[in-house]
Amino acid sequence: MEKKFKRTTITSALPYANGPVHIGHLAGVYVPADIYARYLRLKKEEVVFIGGSDEHGVPITIRAKKEGVTPQDIVDRFHTLIKNAFEKFGISFDIYSRTTSQTHRELASEIFRTIYDKGGFIEQSTEQYYDDEAHQFLADRYITGECPHCHSEGAYGDQCEKCGTSLSPTDLINPKSAISGSAPVMKETKHWYLPLDRHEAWLRQWVLEDHKEWRPNVYGQCKSWLDMGLQPRAVSRDLDWGIPVPVEEAEGKVLYVWFDAPIGYISNTKELYPDSWEKWWKDPESRLVHFIGKDNIVFHCIVFPAMLKAEGSYILPDNVPGNEFLNLEGDKISTSRNWAVWLHEYLEDFPGKQDVLRYVLTANAPETKDNDFTWKDFQARNNNELVAIYGNFVNRAMVLATKYFDGKVPVAGELTDYDKETLSAFDGVKSEVERLLDVFKFREAQKEAMNLARIGNKYLADTEPWKLAKTDMERVATILNISLQLAANLAIAFEPFLPFSSQKLRDMLNMKSFDWAQLGQTGLLPAGHLLNKAELLFEKIEDNAIEAQVQKLLDTKKANREANQKAAPVRENIGFDDFLKLDIRVGTVLECQKVPKADKLLQFKIDDGLETRTIVSGIAQYYKPEDLAGKQVCFIANLAPRKLKGILSEGMILSAENNDGTLAVIMPEKTVKPGSEVK
Ligand code: 2FM
Ligand code: ZN
Repeated sequence: MEKKFKRTTITSALPYANGPVHIGHLAGVYVPADIYARYLRLKKEEVVFIGGSDEHGVPITIRAKKEGVTPQDIVDRFHTLIKNAFEKFGISFDIYSRTTSQTHRELASEIFRTIYDKGGFIEQSTEQYYDDEAHQFLADRYITGECPHCHSEGAYGDQCEKCGTSLSPTDLINPKSAISGSAPVMKETKHWYLPLDRHEAWLRQWVLEDHKEWRPNVYGQCKSWLDMGLQPRAVSRDLDWGIPVPVEEAEGKVLYVWFDAPIGYISNTKELYPDSWEKWWKDPESRLVHFIGKDNIVFHCIVFPAMLKAEGSYILPDNVPGNEFLNLEGDKISTSRNWAVWLHEYLEDFPGKQDVLRYVLTANAPETKDNDFTWKDFQARNNNELVAIYGNFVNRAMVLATKYFDGKVPVAGELTDYDKETLSAFDGVKSEVERLLDVFKFREAQKEAMNLARIGNKYLADTEPWKLAKTDMERVATILNISLQLAANLAIAFEPFLPFSSQKLRDMLNMKSFDWAQLGQTGLLPAGHLLNKAELLFEKIEDNAIEAQVQKLLDTKKANREANQKAAPVRENIGFDDFLKLDIRVGTVLECQKVPKADKLLQFKIDDGLETRTIVSGIAQYYKPEDLAGKQVCFIANLAPRKLKGILSEGMILSAENNDGTLAVIMPEKTVKPGSEVK
């Protein structure tokens, strides 16, 4: 039987404050969570919508080290950037705070302590890699070495980014500390573990039996975790960035970021409502809903519930609408490859068009499978749907009402069958959109709202009131009355999805009262109601704006390709004796000329300190003869002579070769005596 809840606590995953947010974040978590929060508020339900930045964890310390700043500097920078981006996109958090807040520190410690005091953790000592020079234990990401699978260098202790294999630090061949560069040693360390195995039985019942309604992707992932059997999980780390483990013998240890981050939902609620936060988290009549991406499923459906249960006084999530991933132009979004549409950049490139992105991301929401964002689709959905259907309909209705009825809602006359048919579209819309939103099918719900606009657009196109104006004003009045009622319905139906456009439309329609219960009604705007000035709801996006975005991505691809072209692998070692066999010398170029009928060759006469020798070199594409005459070059003096294009070449001039094949001749930094040896 369906439980009746009094209020809803909505959370959206706390993004790591170590980089900006992109369209994948927006599509997978924040837009759906915001649609849901706005929908419930519009229904006048009691709701709180919690957000914030996740400011602990190793990657933040790595970024700080790389930039030579403190972890606090990093999180301050990105917290502000992320918070602003969310605000601009209308993500209507009741609070957006951070896990470095004092309230959070205290609550996370308190929850740890309660579980600890109840005997809810086990303590275990293990051997872990330790940097003897830097005097610290090394997080997996701080250990690099050769991948045991693909043998590339620079694999991390948790993953090889070259071949994608997940690793543990002890898998690495020749591990090195990323801090000091020294070889790490094994050292014993003690940590606290949440014994998930103890929680397995109730978790199985709670997820697999009591929550069969969860999305198949979420349910399926939980099932496979549970079927594998749960193991104790460490909830502390040896690190100097985080919340200290609040027990005595825990010097140098902090709470694992995945222990403190979800508590951030609670502490942010506490920061918002210092006196009444508990009802949102402890009252069984409160319904908790977590919006997350698929990489967070196990933490929200298994680990966090086990923590809350171990603590003992909290409610558990009622639903966890986890989304799959959004790809970009067919490729996985990647921060390290800069393959993303960053929200702060979108805001610069498409000012005022936040709703367009919200619309496209919901229309393509990765609800059940990974989906793809393309700029062509973005343009098409804007031009063919938002502009041509929704915007066009509203604009025609507004402009005609202004023109023929002085901007007032006209009185409807007798209805035709077609009018009635159109009005019947209102009947089911509320319950249909509700049905879909209640089960987190945002994509279909938005489509339903768009269908209403489609009906309106078709109604005006079919009835052509502009043609009737000379002959039948009564009919025009009826058509426009119906159209304006439809427009008012659209303002309500689209509010959760496109809040900026809904606000604009409401302003145009001069709609004062505004709530979900009105959806589906045909008398929202009484006859004689004064409208405001008509404005365009959406604008066409031209090809050049899209081409610029596509070009930006092509440039990224090119830059990645170039950056990926690492130097050639170092060849097999040779002995010093082998090196000594090479007689490398400096010579002065006496003459230099092109070799006839050979594009690539230059012929040199070189003073080698003993005599003049001839050398032919394949560098004509990079140097003109006059560039090199008089210069000093390095050459191998004892290479057996060989004929090139009929000329006997007595040695080889040394050049450095770039990734792209271009060459640069090696020259001594100061002039030296011709014949000087290079060693
Ligand atoms: O995956 C992430 O980006 C995490 N920072 C999400 C944390 S969600 C919650 F637990 F705070
Ligand atoms: Zn590998």
